[in-house]
Amino acid sequence: LSKHKGKDLLRIDEFNGTELMELLQLAAHIKQLQKHGQPFQPLQGKTLGMIFDKASTRTRVSFEVGMYQLGGMGMFLSGKELQLGRGEPISDTAKVLSRYVDAVMIRTFSHSYVEELAQHASIPIINGLTDLYHPCQALADMLTIWEHKGKLKGIKLAYVGDGNNVANSLVLAAVLLGLDVRVATPAGYEMESSIVQKAQQYALESGGKLLLTHDVTEAVAGADAVYTDVWTSMGFEEENEVRMKAFAQYQVNEQLVAHADSDYLFLHCLPAHRGEEVTAGVIDGPRSFIFDQAENRLHAQKAILAALV
Ligand code: CP
Ligand code: NVA
Repeated sequence: LSKHKGKDLLRIDEFNGTELMELLQLAAHIKQLQKHGQPFQPLQGKTLGMIFDKASTRTRVSFEVGMYQLGGMGMFLSGKELQLGRGEPISDTAKVLSRYVDAVMIRTFSHSYVEELAQHASIPIINGLTDLYHPCQALADMLTIWEHKGKLKGIKLAYVGDGNNVANSLVLAAVLLGLDVRVATPAGYEMESSIVQKAQQYALESGGKLLLTHDVTEAVAGADAVYTDVWTSMGFEEENEVRMKAFAQYQVNEQLVAHADSDYLFLHCLPAHRGEEVTAGVIDGPRSFIFDQAENRLHAQKAILAALV
């Protein structure tokens, strides 16, 4: 994986299917080492700056703990409290941070802002969620499905809900790895067409499939995994009322998952809103693997850090 040293991770499709599988194998290996109490510390003396312009539980804690376990350290930086929050240019910030730390993880609103940071930085930049993508989540999601289903190619993955950052990265990762992906969104909340076009191309190359529909039952029929995310993402709060109405028929509930395979996995990136995008019966039920999925953020990101830094 040394070929990835110095690279950024802004989008999951900066890696091809083979490279993603290699990262997943590394993540699984790192997870096993940890379970057996064996240290894996390739990043001794290395530092990760972590800029947050939005709230986080999983991303913040898993990156900080992950860096520590790899022998380095993570440093929490609130966007508001950096001089960035008082108008210092992103380009100057990129150049200054490049002199201090070995990589930066950033969670913010605009994806182009992260691209600008990466353009001016001489160190790897890792996307910890933008309005458009959440690549670290997608890698953890693939690791979770792989662990529980024993394979990825041909796995039927249904995503129900908002065509948002989580959906974009999940779908791209899944088609790169040859999954059979079905996405059900309400009209007006589809994934961006440029991302759909790329996903269709990747599916052709990998032998995967991509179905886009407004029909939740069509998406979930026979599914091996059923995934959903919140109806109102961070930064879209003022649309909440309109969204609650638009998504009302897109809840993952007991009737809907009855159409999935009986051994289906319920997945959600978290945080979740019980009674909105998913019922408590489904998310707290026996087919829910949300905490394995959350744990896998740690292992997947340690693989990313070990490969890039
Ligand atoms: N799934 C996820 O990214 O969670 P946080 O917002 O808690 O980081
Ligand atoms: N789509 C959600 C994911 C949170 C991890 C959001 O952007 O708020």
